Amino acid sequence: MNALFPDGFRWGSATAAYQIEGAAAEDGRTPSIWDTFSRTPGRVRNGDTGDIATDHYHRVREDIALMKELGLTDYRFSLSWSRVLPGGRRPASQKGLDFYRGLVDELLDAGIRPVATLYHWDLPQEYEEEGGWPERATAERFAEYAAVAAGALGDRVATWTTLNEPWCAAFLGYGAGVHAPGRTDDRAALRAAHHLNLAHGLAVQALRAALPAPAELSLTLNLHALRPYADTPEDRDAVRRIDAVGNRIFLDPVFHGRLPEDLVADTAGITDWSFVHDGDLEAVSTPIDVLGVNYYCPAVVAAGTSETPSPWPGAAGHVRFPYVPGPRTAMDWPVDADGLYELLVRLRDELPHVPLLITENGAAYDDYADPEGGVHDPERIAYLHAHLAAAHRALGAGVDLRGYFLWSLLDNFEWAYGYGKRFGIVHVDFPTGRRTPKDSARWYADVIARGGLPPR
Ligand code: FCB
Repeated sequence: MNALFPDGFRWGSATAAYQIEGAAAEDGRTPSIWDTFSRTPGRVRNGDTGDIATDHYHRVREDIALMKELGLTDYRFSLSWSRVLPGGRRPASQKGLDFYRGLVDELLDAGIRPVATLYHWDLPQEYEEEGGWPERATAERFAEYAAVAAGALGDRVATWTTLNEPWCAAFLGYGAGVHAPGRTDDRAALRAAHHLNLAHGLAVQALRAALPAPAELSLTLNLHALRPYADTPEDRDAVRRIDAVGNRIFLDPVFHGRLPEDLVADTAGITDWSFVHDGDLEAVSTPIDVLGVNYYCPAVVAAGTSETPSPWPGAAGHVRFPYVPGPRTAMDWPVDADGLYELLVRLRDELPHVPLLITENGAAYDDYADPEGGVHDPERIAYLHAHLAAAHRALGAGVDLRGYFLWSLLDNFEWAYGYGKRFGIVHVDFPTGRRTPKDSARWYADVIARGGLPPR
């Protein structure tokens, strides 16, 4: 049976500035926390940095031609804050803005809708030196930057996302220390989470004020699809703790203007949350038009303690993540499309009036170009097929899902894993920059052309 998606369903692909652009010191761009982190020995595998990445900055035309060939209706990219406002200073860099203006114009000429994310983890280094996301001032700076971006691109970009995955920015960056800026301080991580929420709300207000036309405003979260290991009160409580600090820490302030009470109780030994000022939660809950969901795999949670440094303040010492057998990607992430369905249905029930976009979904595998020049990636195709089938099932269950963005267009700099993990549907030979569409790219083009999944 062919699973057809509704007319107007948005078929996209997603990337992020630091992962693809390169040109790290060109046209006035200054370092972000990821430039600093990746240059710090031992932080990123193999000492890789985003200095050149996929060289998208110089190959933007070629990359948009590829997107057009695939038939993408939408393209989700992020702006590099320190390319737009080098050193965090104003006025904005004309060259930086010209790059994004050129990108957006070229997309529109190709008939592809630009979806711009303002923050995909690359805080200007200067702001980290002033305290970074644990400080309120960073949220205020972010709203100023949002206004600059809206002023420069708002006549062409109709969909804006404030933040990508604030959970990772706060808890991997300031708690577990495995992402930039590499701090390990649970209190700082919780402060960062609040100030990221505040940054989102203030930016939504700034965008609405600065955009010349009504636009679609959104936030992208990596919501965790959680399952108890055993159906016991202890394991269900472990799920509750992870849900509080993994999901509701963002969903409750953004959609309900409140902090989860259990989160405040769970974290009482770390902070009293006095950094949440009067009026903050009203600002955080400024209405948005759509919620972006990034999904890769579910997590199975049990009561217990874990040995590894925890990015879960308030849950450490109470939870563990048992290893569950089954197929895995090259990231060692389980392949389990039911988690996507469960997550979408949960959001249907909890946020019935909020339209959804899947803003990231995809898989890393150890791809290589065969001697004839092809890149055969049947496992990725199977992964994508299963997840699109889950999305289709969710549509059938009444989920208001508007589109799907495949992560990622190109193999790229996969954060702390460097260039070792390939998520692209287009293979990149990093020494030369040569692009080769993988079998999955042709498969996705066929899905888009037929408006749904081919029979399997
Ligand atoms: C997400 C990130 C994205 C990419 C994928 C694999 O958490 O938003 O940049 O690294 O994971």
